[in-house]
Amino acid sequence: MPQSHSSEAITPLTRLSIIEAHMDGCNPTVFHADHVPQAPEDPLFGLMAAYRKDDFEKKVDLGIGAYRDNDAKPWVLPVVKQADEILRKDPNLNHEYLPIAGLADFTSAAQKLILGADSPAMKEKRVVSFQTISGTGAVHLGGLFLSRFYPRPSNQPIYFSSPTWANHNQIFANVHLPIKPYPYFSPQTKGLDFDGMRSTIENAPEGSIMLLHACAHNPTGVDPTRDQWKEIAKVMRAKNHFPFFDTAYQGFASGNLENDAWAIRYFVSQGFELCIAQSFAKNFGLYGERAGAFHFVTGAGPDAQNTIGRISSQLAILQRSEISNPPAYGARIASLVLNDPALFKEWEANLRTMAGRIIDMRKALRSKLEELNGKEGSWKHITDQIGMFSFTGLTEKQVLKIREDAHVYMTKNGRISMAGLNTVNVEYTAKAIDKVVRETQ
Ligand code: LMR
Repeated sequence: MPQSHSSEAITPLTRLSIIEAHMDGCNPTVFHADHVPQAPEDPLFGLMAAYRKDDFEKKVDLGIGAYRDNDAKPWVLPVVKQADEILRKDPNLNHEYLPIAGLADFTSAAQKLILGADSPAMKEKRVVSFQTISGTGAVHLGGLFLSRFYPRPSNQPIYFSSPTWANHNQIFANVHLPIKPYPYFSPQTKGLDFDGMRSTIENAPEGSIMLLHACAHNPTGVDPTRDQWKEIAKVMRAKNHFPFFDTAYQGFASGNLENDAWAIRYFVSQGFELCIAQSFAKNFGLYGERAGAFHFVTGAGPDAQNTIGRISSQLAILQRSEISNPPAYGARIASLVLNDPALFKEWEANLRTMAGRIIDMRKALRSKLEELNGKEGSWKHITDQIGMFSFTGLTEKQVLKIREDAHVYMTKNGRISMAGLNTVNVEYTAKAIDKVVRETQ
């Protein structure tokens, strides 16, 4: 680990190397490679850059989780266009600071969206919400808060699924929360390793933090059933574990906002104290606007409002010292839609369009693959999995070969973003996958 040169950390030895560094005229820096080694490029954004540079006509982008229309183009949701129009015509629009916790109309609507309009936790005022820099910012704010304030032995890890969204690892490492995986994906069934997941959660030290994907698990597209969620909740309750939900795909898993919030609402109904990182990047297509929220829900009880007040005061300090206050534009767009019944309805229709097209692509990819290899059911997991992603089961070697031979881009773990498929490229993609599977068998 590189050492920081804070005043306390400067030993006579480091002082000497600083002086030497300054005397080294050819390279007048103290940030030598042994202190600041070259870091690898981010795999996902590196993949995106490589795709953009590729000038092969038939290239296919199945990398980053961003919705594309049937012409492989980014899709500005019609409802977002409407809200944008309303915003730009608003004579009162200005560019003043938002409060530290963000736009109140946005955070209250975001709360309602995830917890349900009739949530007892909201009625009992035992929820606090902060607007964040999309889902990543929400995971970070939650991680930072827990690393400072969650009572646990210093080396007790936070658990998350194996595999999980790659960024989880670095976000929690940045806030010095050790991490440990719980089994999740079974390579044999290409579905959930429920027994492994359950028993690791059961055997984790009492009061462990468990990171859970609320729906449309990234990267696998595999979610627990409702009965399995109930079982997970039961085991977690018995061990007093703390659930930390990450929800980035509400509306994408089933096409229905209520269904996709079910697991979180169930845990709240079971009396858990928990937190939620919520992203609006995918379900509003507001990727670059960084609209998201962090919610903390405390358990019911006479002190609940007091607890929430204290937690809120600490979150405000963390937020102020890191971003001061969140960016306004994306939250204003989402807020207009979330708070207007007609726009909300239109949004639900837009979500169904996206989720529906992805489902069609799952069916098309599976049927083309099975047509090519003549084995019915061999790619069933493509249609069993849900949401933006499919975990194909392709190996890293196969992934790299497909990229090399056919210019089809996917992450090294074999994850494909289904939204990158369309009626024009699905056959080409299926042929490329089929070919590599045959050649590497
Ligand atoms: C993804 O997993 O593709 C998205 O969540 C984008 C990201 O930031 O990683």
